[in-house]
Amino acid sequence: MIPIEVKQQILDSARIDEVVGDFVILKRRGANLLGLCPFHQEKTPSFIVSPAKGIFKCFGCGKGGDSVTFLMEHEQISYPEALKYLARKYNIEIVEEEKTEAQIQKLNDRESLLQVSEYASSYFSKNLWETEQGRAVGLSYFRERGFSDVIIQKFQLGYCLDSWDAFSKEALKESYPKRYLVSSGLSIEKEDRLYDRFRNRVIFPIHSLSGRIIGFGGRVLTVDKTKAKYVNSPESEIYNKSQVLYGIFLAKRDIINKDLAYLVEGYTDVISLHQAGVTNVVASSGTSLTQDQIKLISRFTKNITILYDGDAAGIKASFRGIDMLLSQGLNVRVVLFPDGHDPDSFAKSHTSEQIEKYLQLHAVDFIRFKTGLLLEEVGEDPIKKAELIENILESIALVPEEIYRAVYIQECSRLLEIDESDLIRKLNKNFRAKYKKQHGEYAQNITEKSEQVVQNIQHKEDESNLQEDLLEREILRLLINYGKENTTQIFCDESGKEIAEILSVCAYIVQEISQDELHFKNTCYENLFQHFSMYLQKGNIPTLETLIAGEKEEWKTLVVDLSCAPYEISPKWLDKGIYVSTEKDKDKLDKIVYETVLMFKLQKVQQMMETVNLNLKEGIEEEALVLLSRKKQLDLMRKMLSEKLRRIIG
Ligand code: CTP
Ligand code: MN
Repeated sequence: MIPIEVKQQILDSARIDEVVGDFVILKRRGANLLGLCPFHQEKTPSFIVSPAKGIFKCFGCGKGGDSVTFLMEHEQISYPEALKYLARKYNIEIVEEEKTEAQIQKLNDRESLLQVSEYASSYFSKNLWETEQGRAVGLSYFRERGFSDVIIQKFQLGYCLDSWDAFSKEALKESYPKRYLVSSGLSIEKEDRLYDRFRNRVIFPIHSLSGRIIGFGGRVLTVDKTKAKYVNSPESEIYNKSQVLYGIFLAKRDIINKDLAYLVEGYTDVISLHQAGVTNVVASSGTSLTQDQIKLISRFTKNITILYDGDAAGIKASFRGIDMLLSQGLNVRVVLFPDGHDPDSFAKSHTSEQIEKYLQLHAVDFIRFKTGLLLEEVGEDPIKKAELIENILESIALVPEEIYRAVYIQECSRLLEIDESDLIRKLNKNFRAKYKKQHGEYAQNITEKSEQVVQNIQHKEDESNLQEDLLEREILRLLINYGKENTTQIFCDESGKEIAEILSVCAYIVQEISQDELHFKNTCYENLFQHFSMYLQKGNIPTLETLIAGEKEEWKTLVVDLSCAPYEISPKWLDKGIYVSTEKDKDKLDKIVYETVLMFKLQKVQQMMETVNLNLKEGIEEEALVLLSRKKQLDLMRKMLSEKLRRIIG
């Protein structure tokens, strides 16, 4: 129990900007701070922190509260845990009332296990620093491995004495109940006696995301082939191996800051890299990655670089896990170390700058890496090569974003010396199979024709083409997914007065684009748009089902793609200050529809201006006047559109 006055002291000390700032990058905006909401996916900030009021609020997903609510929500911890976190952060000592056995009993299992673990950890580090055996055996082991005292303390490393039950006895004496000693795995029960699981091992405590100790790894000190190198805590109420990443508590801040996580295999790799100043690093602890671990990382960054030590067989065994990363939309890179080095040894034998440089220079995109590695083995064997292509395409097909898929195809075509169009055909075939599985009859009619969709994107090289394509698709995406929804938009009447009008998204978009006589560059898109326009004239709005079930083959893949992808737009586009829509966009439909139409128009107007400019440069005298007046007109339109956009994005 935390005494009331201490609780007040904690709440008074907590500063919302500092608390949130540990997890979210915040930029000052007047009296407030602004950042990307950590509770939902977004690419333009709608998450506001008000230091004056001591609160945070997200205008995207609606979450809000004070420092304690933030921690509870973000770290998935209880109210007292959040208070303790704050107490640690602000160096406030919590003198908890002396615990009686009855009180310990009363705390729930989870909390009890956490307390037992906390106790064990401090016992083990006492062993390490304060007993003769601990110093002679444990501490000197760590020091010989090159760990500094500071880093040993930072990771709360410890030592379990070479005794059958020294720990268990001490813990019982401190009145920690036997059943928790056993269920935490710290003690092993045999014939009514307790034995220490970790005896004669150095201890690596494992922390939860919020920094509480939830388990341990214990390493043998000798090279004894008969003993497992590591013994780990068994699964328990608090320790679930597949959900934990070693080092995440100490790394998360830096992962957010760098927008990158390094992934290594072992405890010692994490520690050595930390000591060398690379602190955005976590370990999967020897097992292959799980979905939960991936989710955990992707809360902090979408960029993962895997640091491998070693042999080709081990690397290949990890490919499945990496495919999972790809399918979660993460950008995966890979670094190999020079022969005989693992991250641990490499970190120790190089300076921080050398390490940083090495990691930067040697990070290779995963698909390229995989292709290269497998290609080495294929040699001249055509069957093996066919298998390899299949294998790589499987990985590429997992990448959710079409643009990236197109880039990968290009790259693989070069590496594998295979025609790009062949790869695309093959990829699309796999896709159709996948869609068929997922969408049953909907997708059954999709034909070869629609493959031009991928191809079209494929050959767009410069950025403005890419932007144009994305905007055209975005308009269609809104039509397909939200055409029937109502939207409230502002129009000007003759006298220039602004009036709000409710109409369907479809009507609004079609009206806006048709009245300015704008067209889609991609003919497939244009046809689909015209289809909407025709329907609308008859008083209807096409639905997803009719679009997919209808006769028109040409846009079926497109429609499926646009309707199921949680669509995100290229980061480059983002740099220009243009928002990105996500699955949540239904809540902000009015704004998104309005903005997208504006951006679409602006893009088109800019393009027309470029054409006019070009014609002017090369043109003949007589046409110059016409072109100049057109230029002036376009310029006006552009100014007006940019002004409108600035007002909302600003
Ligand atoms: N591991 C384990 N049990 C084992 C071997 C390994 O749980 N018997 C896990 C540990 O989490 C370990 C990781 O797999 O950290 C990587 O194994 P390894 O490379 O053998 O260990 P390192 O941590 O690198 O230890 P060291 O450098 O001392 O060899
Ligand atoms: Mn290792």
